[in-house]
Amino acid sequence: MMRAVTIKEFGGPDVLTVEDVARPEPLPTEVLVRVHAAGVNPVDWKTRVGHGMAGLQTFPLILGWDVSGVVEEVGFGVTTLVPGDEVYAMPWFPRAAGAYAEYVTAPARQWARKPATLDHVHAAAVPLAALTAWQALVDTARVQAGQRVLITAAAGGVGHFAVQFARHLGAHVIATASAARHPWLRELGAEEVIDYTASPFEQAVKDVDVVVDLVGDGQDRTGTRSIEVLRPGGLLVAVPGGVSPELAEAAEAAGVRATPFLVEPDGPALTTIAGLIDDGQVAVEVEETFPLEQAGAAHTRGEAGRTRGKLVLTVTG
Ligand SMILES: NC(=O)c1ccc[n+]([C@@H]2O[C@H](COP(=O)([O-])OP(=O)(O)OC[C@H]3O[C@@H](n4cnc5c(N)ncnc54)[C@H](OP(=O)(O)O)[C@@H]3O)[C@@H](O)[C@H]2O)c1
Repeated sequence: MMRAVTIKEFGGPDVLTVEDVARPEPLPTEVLVRVHAAGVNPVDWKTRVGHGMAGLQTFPLILGWDVSGVVEEVGFGVTTLVPGDEVYAMPWFPRAAGAYAEYVTAPARQWARKPATLDHVHAAAVPLAALTAWQALVDTARVQAGQRVLITAAAGGVGHFAVQFARHLGAHVIATASAARHPWLRELGAEEVIDYTASPFEQAVKDVDVVVDLVGDGQDRTGTRSIEVLRPGGLLVAVPGGVSPELAEAAEAAGVRATPFLVEPDGPALTTIAGLIDDGQVAVEVEETFPLEQAGAAHTRGEAGRTRGKLVLTVTG
């Protein structure tokens, strides 16, 4: 058996309850990992209330997709990991991964060795947010040196990785955040930082090649407004809400492109990201940790939408 935070119905933070449940067994090609820390992401609370990836799940559901831990056991056929290896991953997404628990099983190749310079808490803050930033900038937008990249909600989990990756790629990085976060975002590599609470960002920036929008149209129509800052042919990666028919129409009328986006498990990309972290090129910001039993408090904190970097649950170790 193992301790896990389960939900049996969609609802507020109080539907998250700690229980003893069966410990998973690794199938052939899978590894069993003892979870030391689990990252908390907006998709966790969106799914908890019945949105996000809720339609793909069954009850009882163990939320959480970000894991850092130690390999406990490997299934038949696994040749790349052995018990005792320190690993991190965003396994199974968008199927349930069950990271808010003492053990997780997942295919060996969805894991990567955790960055050697990070403890488990900081490593658990990386996978989902960093893979989102990496897959948006590198695999989707194919950002090149010298391009102008706007990142909205740059101070959050995905945003603070996106700023650093875009800078690493040689882009001119423009970020939106509230004023208190500006000095930190400049340290991370943003050359221009716009206080979105003081004035509309589209009045302060133009000729952008790529927008990685992390706010969406739910709040102040940030997605649609970001079309105005793109150069002709530029690309909007609409990370939170996809591309609505209205957004697609506005993009076409403006002569720019807009694409929906969903992050995917990617062990090899996590190995590359671990290298950047261990080289000192990318820093990981954890604003607050919560014990597993306080997953509800972590959700409440995250849902306020003001997190600097990441929130993480400590599980074992
Ligand atoms: N499609 C996918 O695969 C995928 C993957 C990952 C995340 N997402 C989605 O992407 C969004 C961002 O995720 P996240 O983990 O980065 O969220 P997060 O860490 O919770 O974001 C919090 C940050 O958002 C900033 N913020 C809030 N409203 C803003 C606005 N109007 N303009 C600029 N900044 C604003 C806040 O900065 P201030 O305190 O400075 O205001 C805060 O630092 C979420 O909706 C998430 O569900 C989608």
